[in-house]
Amino acid sequence: MQEKVHRTADGAARKFEIAPSIMSADWTRLGAEIEAIEQGGAGLVHADVMDGHFVPNITLGLPVVRALARASNLPVDAHLMIAEPERYAERFVEAGARMVSVHVEADRHLHRTLSAIKSGGAEAGVAINPATPLVNLEEVLELADYIVVMSVNPGFGGQTFIARSIERIQRLRRMIDERGLLTRIEIDGGIDAHNIANAAAAGVDIFVAGTSVFGSGNPAQAVRELREATMQWV
Ligand code: DX5
Ligand code: ZN
Repeated sequence: MQEKVHRTADGAARKFEIAPSIMSADWTRLGAEIEAIEQGGAGLVHADVMDGHFVPNITLGLPVVRALARASNLPVDAHLMIAEPERYAERFVEAGARMVSVHVEADRHLHRTLSAIKSGGAEAGVAINPATPLVNLEEVLELADYIVVMSVNPGFGGQTFIARSIERIQRLRRMIDERGLLTRIEIDGGIDAHNIANAAAAGVDIFVAGTSVFGSGNPAQAVRELREATMQWV
């Protein structure tokens, strides 16, 4: 039988996590939505922070991240799609985010920002847009706990998955494994029950899903289905 166990550089079996994007939830019943994804077995809560400058949309900020951190046992994964993220990253850690990612395109002092996030006690991530070359990550791979590969252009939920992202994931996986690093790969945008297995096979560890979870009418069941679809690679 074909060996399907994906292993990290230290030989451990890879652990898959579903990170529902709260941006797509029903905000009038946020508590119930969080409970549903917890029941479904979500591993994280993904919080999309947008400022209307780096991306053409404005979403949530520090108070919502603070509320999510209080309302859920799941670690909050804050994805900062903002200009000058170095000015705010530590404040998101203080607000309770256990993971904070900043965009490689937005931060001219990535090394400093990632170090600050880590010394605040959170995991530091670097997010990368579909058109940005992966080579731009080379110097920070060692410092980052995870890389967020955007599989849509950031700004909105509900967009179509960019198929080319699979090949980018495979290349990034090689870059990480060749260096013997444990940096995890998160994929963000357009993930659903049809394409998640391919992403898992390509080397993704963390799967962000907004519309396919909260637009489904049954978020708990949707998270369960996404988890099951990744299981064939466990
Ligand atoms: C896009 C965001 C994503 C997105 C995910 O700018 O970073 O997290 O909301 O939502 P879906 O799964 O609907 O693409
Ligand atoms: Zn996101």
